[in-house]
Amino acid sequence: MTILVTGGAGYIGSHTVLYLKEKGESVVVLDNLVKGHRQSVLEEVPFYMGSLNDEQLLNYIFQTHNVDSVIHFAASSLVGESMKEPLSYYENNLGGTLSLLKVMLKNNVNRIVFSSTAAVYGEPKNIPIQENDPAEPTNPYGETKLAIEKMLQWADCAYGLKYVALRYFNAAGADPLGRLGENHDPETHLIPIVLEVALDIRKEVKVFGDDYPTEDGTCVRDYIHVMDLADAHYCALQRIRKENKGGIYNLGNGKGFSVKEVIDTCREVTQREIKSVNSHQRPGDPAVLIASSQKAQEELKWQPKYTNLKDMVTHAWNWHLKQTGMAQTSI
Ligand code: UFG
Repeated sequence: MTILVTGGAGYIGSHTVLYLKEKGESVVVLDNLVKGHRQSVLEEVPFYMGSLNDEQLLNYIFQTHNVDSVIHFAASSLVGESMKEPLSYYENNLGGTLSLLKVMLKNNVNRIVFSSTAAVYGEPKNIPIQENDPAEPTNPYGETKLAIEKMLQWADCAYGLKYVALRYFNAAGADPLGRLGENHDPETHLIPIVLEVALDIRKEVKVFGDDYPTEDGTCVRDYIHVMDLADAHYCALQRIRKENKGGIYNLGNGKGFSVKEVIDTCREVTQREIKSVNSHQRPGDPAVLIASSQKAQEELKWQPKYTNLKDMVTHAWNWHLKQTGMAQTSI
């Protein structure tokens, strides 16, 4: 029996594929390679380049590989871009998932782990955020992810589709052995941007807002190691397999770091000068996002391993150094 990983060539998807292979799972990947990288997927893993909207291709994959579960990452995932191109987010994220669910049902496959986001909460009412707090997204990206959660819920009611939706906070870090890392083009995420400054690929990092109601005035986020996210997908699938139960879960460490603290940690790890300049707030950025992941720890039996921000930055830095052929930092 095989797990189909959609978006398996992306940042979180490729780390999850690596992790599943280490657990001895049989995996097949579908990715359109718009943002993902073919070289991020192990050679031994069957790979299809294509769209979720291609139902014929999906059917072929389900039947050829005896797919019995799906981990669904494939989506457009940039908050800023979604504000400029909302319809393409609806088309890609909702349209792609609809097509996937139809093919799953046709092939009697009823297990799916879905990649959701903290963006479903919008401006949080409580910190730390719990799963039953109000979900009021402030951008189309979060709206599409919330709409998909609801689509899954109704599909469960009607067809017995078992799903786990994982609401990630800020994914960070890289494979501790340096085989994979974060490689977006364009890069919009804080840690890789700061590391690119350390590598002289960029001149400076702009701090988006220093007038938030936080201790040092910059935004606070809950960073979670990408390998801990990979493990959570595995735990989620085990829950569906063993207990035939799903649910919605936050994934974070329950601890916040400000933008300035992240930049300082990068300075400490890289031992390089990193120029930062204060800039205006980025539209749609909440001041503080911190997860309560108690539910995931209890029900998914998930325990994050790399909870230290310095470890996350070190793993990311080692991967960046490897790309440039430089020596690595040990922890
Ligand atoms: N930031 C900067 N300068 C930069 C880039 C980011 O100051 O050059 C700040 C942002 O304003 C934010 C923090 O660093 O306060 C983290 O920003 P990221 O872009 O790395 O991550 P986000 O918090 O914006 O995004 C993450 C996920 C999204 C998800 C979102 C939920 O990547 O998928 O959290 O709000 F939607």
